[in-house]
Amino acid sequence: NIQGFIFDLDGVLTDTAELHYLAWQKLADEEGIPFNREANEALRGVSRRASLMLIIGDRAYSEAQIEEMMERKNRYYVELIQHMTPKDLLPGAIALLDELRQAGIKIGIGSASKNAQTVIERLGIADKIDAIADGYSVQQPKPAPDLFLYAAKQLGLEPEQSVVVEDAAAGVEAALAAGMWAVGLGPAERVGAAHVVLPSLAGITWADLRVKLSNIAR
Ligand code: BG6
Ligand code: MG
Repeated sequence: NIQGFIFDLDGVLTDTAELHYLAWQKLADEEGIPFNREANEALRGVSRRASLMLIIGDRAYSEAQIEEMMERKNRYYVELIQHMTPKDLLPGAIALLDELRQAGIKIGIGSASKNAQTVIERLGIADKIDAIADGYSVQQPKPAPDLFLYAAKQLGLEPEQSVVVEDAAAGVEAALAAGMWAVGLGPAERVGAAHVVLPSLAGITWADLRVKLSNIAR
């Protein structure tokens, strides 16, 4: 019996992937490291440090340099998200959030980002969210289940009562590891492990999802 939804933020409710990309691209250009939009695809849902590691590859940098680069990228990203507005919500997001709230379903955010709070405020959805698990909440990043378990706990829910909505492979893996229902947004090559795979939230209703999920024998 599903009582709550935990939404990943970046790539699910809003397309911050593009802003993360622009910030990483600027850093890579300054460092003279080849990087492009295609390489950025591998960073979807990946933590800030792990993203930087993928970008620098086997180039030698000290820990101090790595930390400086993480901070610099974040400054660029923080500057970019200041310009976000409710118009940056992805199609279908608000309708689903509102329908869930009306149905008495709890809503949480499970995002690896330390900027999740700011993004939620800029999107104007803070009053629709019951709990936020973000980049400050747990130690182990996705695909570990910790972040989603933390969110469910904040919502007062058991894993089997919770549905996770994710756009990243590591996020789907984390949801399944947590023993939760997983809805994957995007191509099957990326989120095919989820119980339900959808192209996006556009046109998706709780009424439909509920039927889809209840038809799945676990
Ligand atoms: C995830 C994003 O939600 O958060 C990643 O998909 C990002 O692209 C990660 O690297 C960490 O975010 P931040 O804002 O703390 O650097
Ligand atoms: Mg994501």
